[in-house]
Amino acid sequence: MSVIPFDRFACPIDLSSLTQTNTVFSCAQKHSFDQSQKGYVNLLPVQFKKTKDPGDNQEMVLARKSFLETGQYHFIMDTIIDFLSGIVSSHPSEPIYCVDAGCGEGYYLDRFQNLFVRQFPNTPLACLGYDISKEAIKKASARSKTIHWAVATNAHIPVLSQSVDYLFCFFGFPVPSEFYRILKKDGLLFLVDPGEKHLLEIRKKLYLKIKKETPYHLNMDKFPQFKHIKTISRIKQMELLSDTDLFNLIAMTPHIHRASAEKIQTTLRCSFPSITADIRINVLSPADKS
Ligand SMILES: C[S@@+](CC[C@H](N)C(=O)[O-])C[C@H]1O[C@@H](n2cnc3c(N)ncnc32)[C@H](O)[C@@H]1O
Repeated sequence: MSVIPFDRFACPIDLSSLTQTNTVFSCAQKHSFDQSQKGYVNLLPVQFKKTKDPGDNQEMVLARKSFLETGQYHFIMDTIIDFLSGIVSSHPSEPIYCVDAGCGEGYYLDRFQNLFVRQFPNTPLACLGYDISKEAIKKASARSKTIHWAVATNAHIPVLSQSVDYLFCFFGFPVPSEFYRILKKDGLLFLVDPGEKHLLEIRKKLYLKIKKETPYHLNMDKFPQFKHIKTISRIKQMELLSDTDLFNLIAMTPHIHRASAEKIQTTLRCSFPSITADIRINVLSPADKS
């Protein structure tokens, strides 16, 4: 197996290099962070927290984990691996450093690592997944012991500058300046977002009016330090969702907070022959990085 340790941690406070000695990560300024018994490290100092328990709560994390494990979204990472196949095989001996920003309970990064080592067995791979939610990272740590996991925020990414080849942000909250800082000059950012038809059947039941369908468009003004490489669209009709899957699909999205409790109950009683997954994978690269 070509998995190698992720050894490009930066101190979240001063961005200097963090080194690991046994279960302690520390920097030259003597900031130190303990690895938990579950294996993850908490790199979210209290001064970076706006609430006591930021990020997704346990219910959302469990709903997402259960839904993703049905395999309905496998096609998303399959598409990314397909895209990478030409690029990776042209540099077979270079190690690849990969980060999943806002990784949730770790489904996507774990799938990425499994598919990647199978497809590119000669390319060493180091992976870090981080999320601001401790509940999510606890679940991620149980999912894979060969991936490094951290509690951390996109606003202060605990990773050295110019050290990452592939950076993923699935349905997350990008901080473009930090993403730019940690990517190598030829690194790639994969931003995965819902398209305009995503979960349309459910949204029609949850809301009296749904927003007019304007075609999906990534606003590059929000990513001034990046150039756009490609947008890949994937639409899938998800069939045979059980009642539990339908509940989890709603509970893992902001709809669980936005829609009224009554509408959610009515929607859960509906039967949906199929539900649309409309996914956009945007590939960006840092512009003008020397
Ligand atoms: C919609 S979920 C997506 C989770 C995962 N990427 C997935 O698709 O399964 C958004 C995630 O972003 C996390 N999050 C929110 N704010 C964050 C921040 N500032 N930095 C890092 N993660 C954050 C939440 O805790 C949550 O796990």
